[in-house]
Amino acid sequence: MASIALVTGASSGLGREFVRRIDAGDAGHVDEIWVVARRSDRLEALVRTCKTPVRPFCLDLTDPVSFDIIDAALAEEDADVALLVNNAGCGTFGPLALQEERDVSCMLSLLVRAPVEMIYRALPYMHAGSRILNVASVAAFMPQPGLAVYAAAKRFVLDLSRSLDTELGEVGIHSTAVCPKFMHTEFLDRPGDAETMETMSALIGFEGPDRVAAKALAAARAGRQLCIPSADMKAFYIASKVLPYRVAARLERALFDIVEPSATCPGA
Ligand SMILES: NC(=O)c1ccc[n+]([C@@H]2O[C@H](COP(=O)([O-])OP(=O)(O)OC[C@H]3O[C@@H](n4cnc5c(N)ncnc54)[C@H](OP(=O)(O)O)[C@@H]3O)[C@@H](O)[C@H]2O)c1
Repeated sequence: MASIALVTGASSGLGREFVRRIDAGDAGHVDEIWVVARRSDRLEALVRTCKTPVRPFCLDLTDPVSFDIIDAALAEEDADVALLVNNAGCGTFGPLALQEERDVSCMLSLLVRAPVEMIYRALPYMHAGSRILNVASVAAFMPQPGLAVYAAAKRFVLDLSRSLDTELGEVGIHSTAVCPKFMHTEFLDRPGDAETMETMSALIGFEGPDRVAAKALAAARAGRQLCIPSADMKAFYIASKVLPYRVAARLERALFDIVEPSATCPGA
């Protein structure tokens, strides 16, 4: 029975860093890394560059059939899932009323449905010591006008992850939510976003996906529920817990208005 690490959104950015670090041993020993994304050329590159055998799954996780394909592969191998990383994501910025329906639908499918499906399909193949790592965001800490669906979806991921950790802790399986701030990845390449991101980064700053992946994997190994890699966002998290939303929203808006009157979100 092969022990596997299963990583979604492995073709770029944070997901690719997760794969590199798992390959380097940051998740302990695994026999195989299963990588999921739509771009097969990127997944094939991982097959060539990793020491650990990599099995690519060229799948669109907004298509429900994809979960059946993963399910079938797990059953066929009678796999032992040591680690599941729910990382695949997309996001669009701006008022909901101005967003394309397909972008909103993609966010809901990929950020909300896909992690639940992946966890549901992988759980029968997990054991005491297995880990689930869910990529949320600092946007999950409080409602985000201008990023409403994305932030609410990431809140879902955060709450799902924490509840599952409590549910599964008894059988020795832990679920960790990681909340990065901005990272320079293809996530921010979408047309129209670059200018806003540049302005926002003056205040928030970026963190490296390599460091986020390292911290998240260490937190998962330690069985921690929450991983906020950057110190300033830990402070933002505490503030979001103690301040009433109206006050926090006013403060947030005032801060962002110093940088750019139209900017309304503190992270992606
Ligand atoms: N970058 C940031 O500032 C930031 C901050 C906080 C949290 N995050 C979160 O971090 C995670 C990783 O994002 P990233 O920054 O590394 O962005 P990225 O470089 O754009 O990576 C996104 C990954 O998701 C995959 N993906 C997108 N749509 C998919 C679909 N329909 N089916 C399967 N895979 C799909 C992409 O692969 P294909 O295109 O090949 O399918 C890619 O591998 C996301 O959950 C994001 O919300 C990002």
